[in-house]
Amino acid sequence: MRKFGVIGVGHVGVTVAYTLVTKGIADELVLIDKNEKLAVAEQLDLQDCQARLDTTTKIKVQDYSELKDADVLFVTAGNIHALDNNSGNRWVEFEYTREIVKDIAPKIAKSGFNGVLVDTMNPCDAIAQYLQKEAGFTSEQCLATGTFLDTARMQRVVAEQFGTNSKNVGGYVLGEHGESQFVAWSTVTVNNHPLKEYAKAKGKELDLNDLEDEIRHGGWAIHSGKGYTSFGIGTCAVKLAQSVISDAQLECPVSTYNKKYDTYLGQPAVVGKGGVQYVNELHLTDEEEAKFKNSANTIKEKFATMYE
Ligand code: LAC
Repeated sequence: MRKFGVIGVGHVGVTVAYTLVTKGIADELVLIDKNEKLAVAEQLDLQDCQARLDTTTKIKVQDYSELKDADVLFVTAGNIHALDNNSGNRWVEFEYTREIVKDIAPKIAKSGFNGVLVDTMNPCDAIAQYLQKEAGFTSEQCLATGTFLDTARMQRVVAEQFGTNSKNVGGYVLGEHGESQFVAWSTVTVNNHPLKEYAKAKGKELDLNDLEDEIRHGGWAIHSGKGYTSFGIGTCAVKLAQSVISDAQLECPVSTYNKKYDTYLGQPAVVGKGGVQYVNELHLTDEEEAKFKNSANTIKEKFATMYE
């Protein structure tokens, strides 16, 4: 029985829930929100899909005890409105999301949930680490989408340069899901050719700084138009959950604990049953390693000043 929990049925949470139901991924789904009326409304709206789907999902609401046997728990209760007058700074949300963690972590722990927690709340690297500590999970069990989404944006932006499918672009955005992230250009490939060789062969001049800036601020371009982001982040979160329940051993950049720098940040890891199986050591250039270290220190310093 593939069972999922979603705490926070805002734009991201309902995107996750809708995807789980309409793609037939979830046999059971538990929706939890501080606004019970909203949770019940989303339950009813999703139940109205069932007659037109080939699969069925049993949907319950507001009951933490139902999380006991869930395989994956999504924590999507971010307060996007905290960012309304901000661009580029997800740390503004921490004063809100930190309080959400203080509220839900003991409830999650009490529920007996022992699956994999996927966090999308921002600043997600710090929040995932905070959740892991407060709820008493292992770092393997508790991860955040991290630069999995930023890497998808890199794949889109690079693919657009060559008129190809974003699935044909490999490589990683690493570090903070935030301003100190960077594109590890030495890892980026198009049709399995190193980017720089491919661009030369195509006679394409690339301004990597411009592209990196477009990627880093991809979330804000969307936020400025619709006031939040939901589809990219929701799809990344569900992809990770699918890798957990099918033990797919997917190698991808997620926010998980880095022993060397003693913080969560976006790095390539293998995700399967039980969550993060292992971190995949990368061979970065000296410049990229310095950026990775800088990003790790940025997260640690900001987290230390804001973690009460
Ligand atoms: C974004 C949000 C999820 O980058 O931080 O879309």
